[in-house]
Amino acid sequence: MRELGAISGACMLLVALCAASDDGVVRRAVPSDSLPVPLDRSVKLGAEELAEVDTASPEQVALGRRLFFEARLSKDASVACASCHQPVLAFADDRALSLGIDSQATRFNAPSLFNKGLSENLLWDGRAATLEAQVLLPIENPAEMGLGIPAALKFVAGNRDYAQAFVDAFGGRPTEERLAKALASFLRALVIADSPVDRFRAGEVSELSPEEQAGLWIYEGRGGCWRCHHGPNFSDEAFHNTGVGLEDGVLRPGRAEVTGELTDSGKFRTPGLRMLTKTAPYMHDGSFETLEEVVEFYRSGGRSNAYLSEKIRPLELSDRDVANLVAFLQALSR
Ligand code: HEC
Ligand code: HEC
Repeated sequence: MRELGAISGACMLLVALCAASDDGVVRRAVPSDSLPVPLDRSVKLGAEELAEVDTASPEQVALGRRLFFEARLSKDASVACASCHQPVLAFADDRALSLGIDSQATRFNAPSLFNKGLSENLLWDGRAATLEAQVLLPIENPAEMGLGIPAALKFVAGNRDYAQAFVDAFGGRPTEERLAKALASFLRALVIADSPVDRFRAGEVSELSPEEQAGLWIYEGRGGCWRCHHGPNFSDEAFHNTGVGLEDGVLRPGRAEVTGELTDSGKFRTPGLRMLTKTAPYMHDGSFETLEEVVEFYRSGGRSNAYLSEKIRPLELSDRDVANLVAFLQALSR
């Protein structure tokens, strides 16, 4: 009997996890918050600068954290930030394009949200100047959460728990500015570093295997990866055309859509390289399934187009070099 009870319990759980929406598409349940309590906000080797911007109070971070998992910030209470930025996937998504309300696909691949504290010009084309500006966009976007800021504020102000949490965090009622600050404060507290690569660079040479070390030399040498992927998050936070945006002879505008400059065509913001083993598929459109595919893409010199970055050219790498470079990238996720 007890076993039967356990089985029906599991089925009930499954029903809750796999509710089919009106259009028949099976929707994932919003992931629950399984992050450590409290979050580990210690200074981490290799990303010390990120600790300097993580200055919000514990109450502000805790409020932002609750809001991040809150599906009632979407129009039909089905989608939260965590639906597309899944904690177990380094706050990225395993779909090339994520699903917003009514199963609408997003324009781009959802990136990891680790180490965003130092980023300016967020989003793949740099449309959002600050984290505070960025975090409100999905709540407004009719294809993502679609609730709008006035309705979001009405919801939190009318909910006793949230209203109290705003008082605790900010000493007053919910406002647009405080909503943005709470969510951005939570994101600034999501820092990841202290990988074997950081420890190797700090002098602990036994942290990387001979293959991973060989991969590091290629990364910094013949591969030229560091020219765009450098800094605490292995990104220069700038925009480059690698040719990924070229599909069937047509180049996506990318950064040019924001600046209006033709020479910015096909440019996208350099993504960070930490936690890649959790964040596949890769690139702004999620068009690469594996790290081997990504490295092969660079080996062949990207995709030729009128505005291809001069830093992208065919690389002379052996198959073993490719394997070592992949091993190095994987070590950044350990
Ligand atoms: C429906 C899926 C979806 C939801 C819901 C969603 N996001 Fe995103 N998020 C994305 C996608 C896709 C991108 C990349 C979009 C782009 O670059 O234009 C993104 C980008 C971001 C970025 C920029 C990251 C970078 O590296 O530039 C931040 C920060 C972010 N989201 C935070 C949030 C927060 C906070 C919420 C909840 C208020 C949220 N997202 C809800 C899909 C989603
Ligand atoms: C000219 C600058 C530049 C150079 C050089 C460069 N990258 Fe990139 N990298 C980018 C940009 C920009 C993207 C995003 C492209 C897009 O989606 O359109 C990217 C994307 C990636 C991604 C996908 C990450 C993700 O989360 O989607 C990986 C992995 C990567 N690069 C690794 C490397 C490696 C390894 C090298 C060296 C062989 C390298 N890059 C050289 C600029 C560069």
